[in-house]
Amino acid sequence: MILQHIQLSDFRNYTNAQVEFVSGVNAVIGANGQGKTNLAEALGYLSTMKSFRGVPIEAMIRNGTHTAFIRARVLHDDGREILIEARLTNQGRNQVLVNGTKLPKTRDLLGMVRSTVFSPDDLELVKGGPHLRRDFLDDSLVALANKYDALRLEVDRIVRQRNAVLKQSGGRLNNAVTSMLDLWDEKFSDSGTQLGNARSEIVSKLTPFIVHAYEELAQRASNISILYSPDWLKTGLAKCLAEARAEDLRRVTTTVGPHRDDVEILINSLPARTQASQGEQRTMALALRLAVHRFIGESVGETPILILDDVLSELDPDRAKALLNHFPVGQVLITTASELPAEAHITKKVQIQAGTIISSLNPNSN
Ligand SMILES: Nc1ncnc2c1ncn2[C@@H]1O[C@H](COP(=O)(O)OP(=O)(O)O)[C@@H](O)[C@H]1O
Ligand SMILES: [Mg+2]
Repeated sequence: MILQHIQLSDFRNYTNAQVEFVSGVNAVIGANGQGKTNLAEALGYLSTMKSFRGVPIEAMIRNGTHTAFIRARVLHDDGREILIEARLTNQGRNQVLVNGTKLPKTRDLLGMVRSTVFSPDDLELVKGGPHLRRDFLDDSLVALANKYDALRLEVDRIVRQRNAVLKQSGGRLNNAVTSMLDLWDEKFSDSGTQLGNARSEIVSKLTPFIVHAYEELAQRASNISILYSPDWLKTGLAKCLAEARAEDLRRVTTTVGPHRDDVEILINSLPARTQASQGEQRTMALALRLAVHRFIGESVGETPILILDDVLSELDPDRAKALLNHFPVGQVLITTASELPAEAHITKKVQIQAGTIISSLNPNSN
């Protein structure tokens, strides 16, 4: 899949800007604070309907305005060209048009533009709290199939509702509270177990891709394990919820289930979160993204667009070279504050200054 054209209106620091991209490696060059990450974020939004910076939609609308537009033309591998217009607003509803037709639900856009984003913040995937790794798995599932978007939202909703019941109960069980909890526990066991099984399955499918990407970047054989095996999934969620009910009432929250899961990443038998070096952690973070990129590409039969935001500032020169030499096939957008080395084989250079495209060149064509 190729992003051919993107236009941003009142998006972050862009008043109105448009740029053409080509297949191969597109470099987006600009000093800090000029709008490189913002551009990557806009494209990422079309894939996931959220900011990869983890901020609410409002943050992406240009200050002082109410509605941002992201318009894009993408070319699928089968030759289909689609035009997308996403409207992000802090007044009323967001809206998405595809080829001029309004989608019934904005989330129907999921799966139409596939991209993989790697940004420096992804170090937190390895170093940070468990929710980032849960999101990593769930985002990967959603990239695989839209049904997981619905499942994930359903699990979130059930946990919120169950917690609301616990809160209303004031910590005391009576018949009404018991029957409401019974109801939510049944729903939760069903959806939660589906999500747990899906996470477990995607971890086993992703692992060989992660090992491969890590070894490619680190340029040496490494012993990598990705462990996801929550106790509740082995014991059964219904049983665990029943056992935890008294504790849940006391703590006024749901203490067991997929919303509490973690994924453990081991590099040479040591937990990467606490014991890997910063270099190993960065390599692992990038390997996780590249792994999903290739896995999704193989699974859905179309290579997503790879967006590398400021990645070269993050990697030591050897790993940076390994990355540039192993770019996956397909379109790559790479943002950078400095010139890229020759190994990057750039096909297009776009320069950005203060939310304006100041030059757009195809250096290899005359
Ligand atoms: N909602 C917004 N409205 C206007 N400007 C914004 C908004 N959000 C961020 N910016 C501006 O965007 C700039 C940062 O852009 P960014 O893409 O992160 O830069 P970089 O080129 O370093 O990646 C900052 O100057 C910031 O003030
Ligand atoms: Mg940036």
